[in-house]
Amino acid sequence: MENVRELLEQIIGNEILIDVVLSNLRKKDPEGFQKVSVRPVILKGERQYQFTYHYEKKVTHENLGSREAVGKAMELLENYFKQGQCFTVDADYQILISKKMKAAILKKKATKQQEDLSHNRKKQYIIPENVPNPFLIRLGVMNEKGKVLANKYDKFRQINRFLEMVADVMPALEGKNETLHIIDFGCGKSYLTFALYHYLIDIRKLKVNIIGLDLKKDVVNHCNGVAQELGYEDLRFLVGDIGKFQGREKVNMVVSLHACDTATDAALVKAIEWNADVILSVPCCQHELLPQIHNDIMAPMEKHGIIKERLSSLITDSVRANLLELMGYSAQMLEFIDMEHTPKNLLIRAVKTGRIPAHAVEEYKRFKTFWQIDPYMERALAEKLKGIFQE
Ligand SMILES: C[S@@+](CC[C@H](N)C(=O)[O-])C[C@H]1O[C@@H](n2cnc3c(N)ncnc32)[C@H](O)[C@@H]1O
Repeated sequence: MENVRELLEQIIGNEILIDVVLSNLRKKDPEGFQKVSVRPVILKGERQYQFTYHYEKKVTHENLGSREAVGKAMELLENYFKQGQCFTVDADYQILISKKMKAAILKKKATKQQEDLSHNRKKQYIIPENVPNPFLIRLGVMNEKGKVLANKYDKFRQINRFLEMVADVMPALEGKNETLHIIDFGCGKSYLTFALYHYLIDIRKLKVNIIGLDLKKDVVNHCNGVAQELGYEDLRFLVGDIGKFQGREKVNMVVSLHACDTATDAALVKAIEWNADVILSVPCCQHELLPQIHNDIMAPMEKHGIIKERLSSLITDSVRANLLELMGYSAQMLEFIDMEHTPKNLLIRAVKTGRIPAHAVEEYKRFKTFWQIDPYMERALAEKLKGIFQE
């Protein structure tokens, strides 16, 4: 059956599935389902796989993510069905499973059309293709007709991916009936800052005020010019250092995407001090803990520079997430498409809950002792952490 698992992983991993029908029950059961069909669906901007269970007089549905979908399909084939018809963009596959649980896979020419899938794909973008959008035209991502330029397609996908992540946390921001104050720390050329403004104002119809902060004066001047041209009145860009930024009392959401090394920590600390409702942060080039981390047990991972570097990045981000939890945030780690769109990297998404998970303090202390580290973020939050560590 490993050949079937490999096939399903490849089809689902490459997002080429049109649909699957599992049939020919091993044991007939009038009460049970008689066949199961599976198709990709887009839910809240995420690709899911909808399993439809066909009973004699009813159907039921179950939506699963990619990995679970492969597991579920395998479970169904191993326990219930002798046959699977799998239609993909590239080919049709017939899976036949013998009594001895040996699977034969017959590959045939594709008989179903690709249109179904591409239709779904287009629908998943919050900012659609082929609809002229002033800010994307101005930034050179699409042309006047709304066509995304071939060399900007990754950027277009990244913008949409980012907005999907924002969309998921909107319940934490909406309903306050007041202007949302947002800061994008280390905004750079600000594709994502403009996208965020467009999304919140034009699509979600909210009142927002966004500041983009960056060290680079020329970039800031350029972005202010673009904001003016677009008529984005409540978006402005300032020159400044994240750690020293003062000009705000209350900030609802802090964004910091690819701000270098401890600039990310400085952004997280600022957000915590403002009690921001939402934090979205993609860390970049973590150097701080690299010379600090050490534990004899981990010697095999510490002796290869490239492994140690990755290890250090993971430790740094784990520390950040753990400290966010200690500060009353629920923190998630999501995969984000990198600027250079080669390696994927992490996005820390934190939402203020005011609750500190049980064991978070102990976990943090143990982790820190194990690695013998003294992270920037903990030092910067020392006052706030004092009480929590003593409890
Ligand atoms: C790699 S760019 C990312 C730009 C943008 N956020 C994005 O993801 O598309 C990082 C930016 O962070 C800025 N930056 C780094 N450290 C900073 C600091 N301490 N204060 C303000 N900006 C900083 C840099 O000048 C640079 O423009």
